[in-house]
Amino acid sequence: MRIGVLTGGGDCPGLNAAIRAIVRKGIDHHGHAMVGFRDGWRGPLENAYSELTPQSTRGILPRGGTILGTSRTNPFKREGGPEQLKENLAALHIDGLIAIGGEDTLGAAARLHGDHDVPVVGVPKTIDNDLGATDQTFGFDTALHVASEAIDRLHTTAESHNRVMVVEVMGRHAGWIAFHSGLAGGADVILIPERPFDVDEVCSLIARRHSSGPSFSIVVVAEGALPLEGTMETVSAGTDEFGHERLGGIGHRLEREIEERTGFETRATVLGHTQRGGTPTAFDRVLATRFGIAAIDAASEGRWGTMAALRGPAVELVPLADAVAQLRTVPDAEFEVAKTFFG
Ligand code: F6P
Repeated sequence: MRIGVLTGGGDCPGLNAAIRAIVRKGIDHHGHAMVGFRDGWRGPLENAYSELTPQSTRGILPRGGTILGTSRTNPFKREGGPEQLKENLAALHIDGLIAIGGEDTLGAAARLHGDHDVPVVGVPKTIDNDLGATDQTFGFDTALHVASEAIDRLHTTAESHNRVMVVEVMGRHAGWIAFHSGLAGGADVILIPERPFDVDEVCSLIARRHSSGPSFSIVVVAEGALPLEGTMETVSAGTDEFGHERLGGIGHRLEREIEERTGFETRATVLGHTQRGGTPTAFDRVLATRFGIAAIDAASEGRWGTMAALRGPAVELVPLADAVAQLRTVPDAEFEVAKTFFG
């Protein structure tokens, strides 16, 4: 068989580990030819590709980013996109695709398979950890380590200066990074997209804490966290091809509000893309490798329209459509654990 691989959406640590696993098992074990498409869905739409070999994927296991490049190209936003993509795959004699991505890339993969019969297997990745059909995506563990380490570092400077430190982490619809890094880093308030917040309540929690001894606080906020309607101003910065708003900025707005309302000196740090860059943790390398192996095995058996997923300790195949049917958000009951330490 001749199998294509692509990585789409925001990059994350572990993508190269998945590519390496797919290529190594695809060639050495199954005897396939492997093709790497450039920049997500742009590759098969524009015939941007190169052959992948064990040699060309050697040494990439610990490297962040993706050797294939990535983009937020949406094949359904292009005139005749799905037809063009199918034509290109046929001309290149591609028997099937492995699409490594998050909500958007896998959403497009599910539609291409369901509505246009494109043979595709999915691999779930995203630092946001918000895909419904898998217990965890790779990339999340590394992002969590980056965020927790940053919070530890901000703790000591917050304490020295008697400041409130607002730490903005990624997380568009789900607050997993904020929740877990805040819990691991001993945050005094954690704000997540799942629960619109009242800025007055945030300020009261900080004031209560400072009146009981400590003179510094750590507030962790997910970039997608929203204030309750009418309580604080929000600004929009445009959308991408999948219609998602460009986020970022809530940390600095909170910095101003907290300082004005409490009188405590406040600073904001936006961790941004540092959470997506750099070398993957061992956990992410292992998960990405297991997903990659499951995906190439599935493709070899012609199990199109499926996705590799972590279910408990096992990697299983689930319908691709399930991956994007529902986002995996932070359950209220789980978040209660963090609330014990607020204020
Ligand atoms: O890939 C997910 C993510 O990291 C989100 O957490 C974030 O909102 C978004 O990507 C940022 O995207 P971009 O790199 O296009 O700015």
